[in-house]
Amino acid sequence: MNSPDLPGQPQLAYRGNELFLEDVRLSDLAKQHGTPLFVYSKGAMLAALAAYQRGFAGRDVQICYAVKANSSLSVIQVFALAGCGFDIVSGGEIERVLAAGGQADRIIFSGVGKTRAEMRRALDVGIGCFNVESEAELDVLNEVASAMGVRAPVSIRVNPNVDPKTHPYISTGLKSSKFGIPHERVLPTYQRAAALKGLRVIGIDCHIGSQITQEEPYLETVDRMIDLVEAIEAAGIPIQHIDFGGGLGINYNGETPPGAEQLWKKLLARLDARGFGRRQLMIEPGRSLVGNAGVCLTEVLYLKPGAQKNFCIIDAAMNDLPRPAMYQAFHQIVPLHQREAAAVTWDVVGPVCESGDWIGHDRELAVQAGDLLAVLSAGAFCMSMASNYNARGRAPEILVTGEQAHVIRLRETLADQMRQEKLL
Ligand code: LLP
Repeated sequence: MNSPDLPGQPQLAYRGNELFLEDVRLSDLAKQHGTPLFVYSKGAMLAALAAYQRGFAGRDVQICYAVKANSSLSVIQVFALAGCGFDIVSGGEIERVLAAGGQADRIIFSGVGKTRAEMRRALDVGIGCFNVESEAELDVLNEVASAMGVRAPVSIRVNPNVDPKTHPYISTGLKSSKFGIPHERVLPTYQRAAALKGLRVIGIDCHIGSQITQEEPYLETVDRMIDLVEAIEAAGIPIQHIDFGGGLGINYNGETPPGAEQLWKKLLARLDARGFGRRQLMIEPGRSLVGNAGVCLTEVLYLKPGAQKNFCIIDAAMNDLPRPAMYQAFHQIVPLHQREAAAVTWDVVGPVCESGDWIGHDRELAVQAGDLLAVLSAGAFCMSMASNYNARGRAPEILVTGEQAHVIRLRETLADQMRQEKLL
């Protein structure tokens, strides 16, 4: 039997006909904990981190895991114990990082809409840096910090206007985007920030988009960022750190993004050539650290062959796996137990009452009702974007390491869902 390709998932493999993540047979977990069920490999997360660390060996770099990719406490804890900092975008993410043992001074706070309350809390706990996204935000942060008698450490998120060549919803560095300060406003914005008494300018940052699969946009970004740093420093404002954001893509379906190690060796060579290789650097990777560390297990509920389409109806849906509906994203779907039967072409869909509730179009699968499937590359932007749509409880999560499987989140019950509501 030909095993399907398992793109990019280092700890996922068939042993005989059975799919394993690390040394755990996935069908055992599905039977024990029910489906849908997210399962992550700790080894795969640490291997993805190690690739960055090799690329940066000997340099002054803070890797700040972008919590939005997967904000489950144990996932944050894995990266905290590995010495990472964190890129966060809300007060909720600050609390998650602190609850999971992350260090406050290694937190950087991104996002275009920080509230005063979030700023106060971040200053209270002593985060490392605010990545400020507008001139109006500079003024508010200055006001909040001054009222507290402190100086807020800031970096300004600049918009380098580089095309990341990815899906439009996840391109963030283009001129038309809501993020960052436009290139031509960067210097005046730094001058304004430097004059505000409640702020302490320490860095510059950018983030050009997500699921980037080529190295050119990064090389271009390095050049544009250095041009800006040179101009800002020439105006007498020293920049301690340069933050290049996240965005490195993963292999969902045969994409061939550069490896983190190779990419960063190349980018450091470019930084060296321009005399900036020994600066303090930061990056904010999310997807590339966790995306290919996880799968979502699901059961086939019904087969519904039709004149035009055959539907394979599974118990996971767009509320668990929103990426196909939101971005037409591709996630590979494979059986947990391979069967010797002819494959048929199926549209794999969930039970939610929307035509957009599909997980995969035109998939060749040999399946029967009751079979278990794995939706691959489900470690990033799946659980963290999951919802209760159709009053569906969010799925539980398990982290495996070797032969051990730790439940890191219980299945959400109806009582959990209804807890915050009141009848008239
Ligand atoms: N830093 C900032 C400021 C960001 O906005 C993001 C992601 C990251 C870092 C991490 O980027 P990554 O390394 O994960 O590409 N929900 C979409 C992706 C949205 C990305 C938003 N920002 C998806 O499922 O594809």
